[in-house]
Amino acid sequence: MSNRLDMTGKIVVVTGARQGLGKVFAKAFAEEGAKVILMARNVPALRAASDEITKETGATCHICPLNVLDEDSVEQAAAFVAETTGRMDVLINNAAVGRSITPLQDVALEEWENTIGTNLTGTFLCMKHFGRLMIAQNHGVIINLGSLAAKTVFKSACTGAYDVSKAAIMMLTRLMAGEWAQYNIRVNSISPGLFMTDINRGYVEKHPAFYEKSLEHLPIKRWGHPEELATLVLFLASDSAAYVTGEDYGIDGGYPLW
Ligand SMILES: NC(=O)c1ccc[n+]([C@@H]2O[C@H](COP(=O)([O-])OP(=O)(O)OC[C@H]3O[C@@H](n4cnc5c(N)ncnc54)[C@H](OP(=O)(O)O)[C@@H]3O)[C@@H](O)[C@H]2O)c1
Repeated sequence: MSNRLDMTGKIVVVTGARQGLGKVFAKAFAEEGAKVILMARNVPALRAASDEITKETGATCHICPLNVLDEDSVEQAAAFVAETTGRMDVLINNAAVGRSITPLQDVALEEWENTIGTNLTGTFLCMKHFGRLMIAQNHGVIINLGSLAAKTVFKSACTGAYDVSKAAIMMLTRLMAGEWAQYNIRVNSISPGLFMTDINRGYVEKHPAFYEKSLEHLPIKRWGHPEELATLVLFLASDSAAYVTGEDYGIDGGYPLW
């Protein structure tokens, strides 16, 4: 049987790829044969991530500085892609900040604007500028990172601005999917629950009671492995999902069930 997630020859841009899930996604695409362009603000960390992926997969990666808060920077990153690879097949809008646990009443305007600006406006700007390349070539796939927090109120841990930014990404996804279907561009989002990234692992190792408590809400009694998320992203990016657009995919161990 053919490998239905094969990405051989695809050009894939992953934003926020210097660590965490973005790096996992970049590696997963590289393993499937894609040429990956990793983007974020911290260039030395990006280079280290890219070198690690090349060492582990043998794939050649590119890196490009990107600040999604700055439209010029997004435009320059899109120009880099056009000059370097001449096209792009997949965009993973993964860059994001913030889950500071603050009652909404107390959130400072600066924090609100930085969170909405990075997560929501940043996703919009990346779609706008990378999307131009996809429109010109008449194909593409975009996957936006939402969150379980966009759909569920965590009453003991309100991360208001973050949750609102992620909820808005779902509507942005639906709007762009409708607008761009005519260009053969599919747009979907995924909403991860609790995933054991390196940063989260460090946190739960320091706070084991937090981890134990979280399991009370999880029908599947564990946090997700980042690689499980990467499999969903690969599926949505692949031709196997050719008829899927404008949707949000929860991947959360059944958290909303209880
Ligand atoms: N981890 C989870 O369990 C979980 C659950 C639900 C949803 N998510 C979503 O999944 C995505 C990745 O999460 P994560 O935990 O891996 O995040 P993370 O470890 O905090 O990494 C965030 C990435 O975004 C980049 N970034 C931040 N601000 C940026 C900006 N202005 N311009 C460009 N890049 C920027 C960072 O690099 P620089 O600082 O170098 O720019 C970094 O590479 C996020 O969208 C997050 O909301 C994660």
